Amino acid sequence: MGDMSQIRNIVILTGAGISAESGIETFRSAGGLWENHRVEDVATPEAFARDPNLVLRFYDMRREAIQDKQPNPAHFALAKLEERWPGKLLLVTQNVDDLHERSGSRRVLHMHGEHLNAWCTSCDVRSRWTGPLFDRPPCSVCSARSLRPDVVWFGEMPYRMGEIYAALREADLFVSIGTSGAVYPAAGFVQNAVELGAQTLELNLERSQGSHMFHESRLGPASQVVPHWVGEMLR
Ligand code: APR
Repeated sequence: MGDMSQIRNIVILTGAGISAESGIETFRSAGGLWENHRVEDVATPEAFARDPNLVLRFYDMRREAIQDKQPNPAHFALAKLEERWPGKLLLVTQNVDDLHERSGSRRVLHMHGEHLNAWCTSCDVRSRWTGPLFDRPPCSVCSARSLRPDVVWFGEMPYRMGEIYAALREADLFVSIGTSGAVYPAAGFVQNAVELGAQTLELNLERSQGSHMFHESRLGPASQVVPHWVGEMLR
């Protein structure tokens, strides 16, 4: 990596790997199967149109599962970095859990939506939702029984891309944590960052599909490598 004393603005991208040690299964673990369905077959608008009960049950289960999980040292380290970093810092997450918020991060952008939100397809309002959707509860705003998980499915447009690209244009350092680099557009951020002249760092358990694109790649569990890196940045 280049001269770290020149770093002012940081963009951090996180993926399922940062929450793995909190006990939240990554999408691609367990052979990528859920009750013999390929996960990709549950996480699409077509699946929801074809078999809404299946899709709602899958997300009800995951929404319930995250609520008794706790942030791990990697989440806490990023919250500390945000609090103390003198330049700009944007945390972009592909995760739909709320562990970044619960560890104290304030500027978090959920590009793939949030488990604890429901989206009403009748009135287009998103509201906090912690219970099940399987039983078709009414929207608290318009009463229509048209709530769906507020998560971005394969084939749908991720949220807040304009803000993300604007932050990447200003970034001196782009850091990717716990993501396999398999899903675009997030997988392309490293290349954007390199083209824009930023330093790039990957922190992941193992080499990912995108490892070769980073200036530096450090391997290890997030609960160890992330606090260590944050310690270096705040030294
Ligand atoms: N510490 C660091 N990295 C880890 C750890 C850990 N303890 N455990 C696993 N990893 C790494 C894995 O090696 C893998 O490279 O985290 C990565 C997780 O990859 P994926 O399961 O593919 O998750 P992610 O990259 O976030 O997926 C992107 O795809 O399924 C869709 O929309 C969903 O947001 C998700 C997107």
